[in-house]
Amino acid sequence: MEKEIIEALSWRYATKLFDASKKISEKNWKTLEEALRLAPSSYGLQPWRFIVVQNADIRKKLREVAWNQPQITDASHLVVFTTRDKIDESFVQSYIDKIAAVRGVPKPSLDGFKNAMVGDVVKGPRASQIKTWTQRQAYIAIGFLLETAALLHIDACPMEGLDTAAFDKILKLDGTGWGSVAVVTLGYRSDKDQLATAKKVRFDKSQVIQVID
Ligand SMILES: Cc1cc2nc3c(=O)[nH]c(=O)nc-3n(C[C@H](O)[C@H](O)[C@H](O)COP(=O)(O)O)c2cc1C
Repeated sequence: MEKEIIEALSWRYATKLFDASKKISEKNWKTLEEALRLAPSSYGLQPWRFIVVQNADIRKKLREVAWNQPQITDASHLVVFTTRDKIDESFVQSYIDKIAAVRGVPKPSLDGFKNAMVGDVVKGPRASQIKTWTQRQAYIAIGFLLETAALLHIDACPMEGLDTAAFDKILKLDGTGWGSVAVVTLGYRSDKDQLATAKKVRFDKSQVIQVID
């Protein structure tokens, strides 16, 4: 298992050129969706939605506002990570309702938890920076997706620095309370992608991992 994980993580790279003719199977895609759904988030609030854009015309438009990067149109699948612009009490309540239903507990028993969340992310000091907070949560899901894809030997490229306002317009997100943050494209590398064989550039373990005994 250890060997397989390290092999997969060494094999993966941020794919620049996808083979547009190769598609992710239904079975693998279901697993990737579950990796997104099962990602952890602070409080478990899941302030995200993952938009899977398979429409070719929309992808073309998105590519135009994403530095014309070919992954946007050529990858088998494209996921746009969107998060809440703000968290309100009703969003927290929907999560409380879900906990009560899934775990079979009475809602009043969750009042303490609910008040803690509301006091923090709805009315507390974090509320003023909530977009930064929700966006941070999205990056956890991105990590889960990338690692799962690597383990399945599916290529991927995480992408940010896109024109998110233009993305929101194209995806009709304006006024919905959701905003795009980043993208992950997934599929299979093209044999023309020279970066596929480039050596990984990482700082040494001693430079990035500090142990305090
Ligand atoms: C959040 C994030 C955003 C990124 N944005 C882009 C991007 O827009 N286009 C791109 O080609 N690569 C993008 N990358 C890929 C990084 O450049 C790449 O992961 C890094 O250089 C390490 O290389 P490796 O992933 O191939 O090991 C992004 C990576 C991350 C984590």
